[in-house]
Amino acid sequence: MADHPTQRPGGGPGTSEDVAFARRMRKDFQRIEMEYEFAVDEVLTKVSILRREFLHLHRYNPIEHVGSRVKSTGSILRKVARLNIAPTPEAIRAGIQDIAGVRITCSFIADTYQVLEALISQDDVRVLQVKDYIAAPKPNGYKSLHALIEIPVFLSTGPVPVTVEVQIRTIAMDFWASLEHKIYYKYEGQVPPGLVASLTEAAHLAEQLDHRMEELHTEVRGGERTEDA
Ligand code: GTP
Ligand code: MG
Repeated sequence: MADHPTQRPGGGPGTSEDVAFARRMRKDFQRIEMEYEFAVDEVLTKVSILRREFLHLHRYNPIEHVGSRVKSTGSILRKVARLNIAPTPEAIRAGIQDIAGVRITCSFIADTYQVLEALISQDDVRVLQVKDYIAAPKPNGYKSLHALIEIPVFLSTGPVPVTVEVQIRTIAMDFWASLEHKIYYKYEGQVPPGLVASLTEAAHLAEQLDHRMEELHTEVRGGERTEDA
């Protein structure tokens, strides 16, 4: 860690130490970003393989949509400051676990658990944490499966373990979470209580819709997944 100073060196702005420090920081951040992008690519490949194999085996696709993002340097730096983390690659890797995120939207509730299991049971996936906000929703009604996984990214210098946050939810859960997120940001986190209550009520409606759709799906397919959805 000694070669990654946590403080800007003295001597005032524009000194050669300052410039060297800024250059090292930029290089460190570019490397972090690259490693997390590779990790996201690996998870996306895993999800794509699962989707295609599932389709081949069962003629059914449980995944509606897959999205991903890697936090920008600005966003990482804001979190570093907020959480009081040292701006070193090691501290950032250890302290910020949602630099890389993959969101999988499934058709039905049962699919979310199936996709999670298929992903975390893979040999090169190390599970750091699983949170089941479907079985135990947040007080506002938020539902999703969250998994923090670590996968190896094979670089020329050897494998590097990289953490990826995976969120798995149904279309109805995703619909609700997207809107809630927009409202939360519009009110800068201070959502009026009446609106919070309406959102929670809407989450219950989304839940009912999920259950109804799952019932219909089971009825139509006679409990068997043998054809295209
Ligand atoms: P953060 O500090 O928010 O990352 O929380 P955490 O690290 O304890 O993890 P948590 O599992 O609570 O949430 C991680 C991510 O899930 C968030 O960054 C959001 O993408 C999503 N999330 C969690 N709670 C909510 C919620 O109430 N509404 C919405 N729309 N998204 C949520
Ligand atoms: Mg987070």
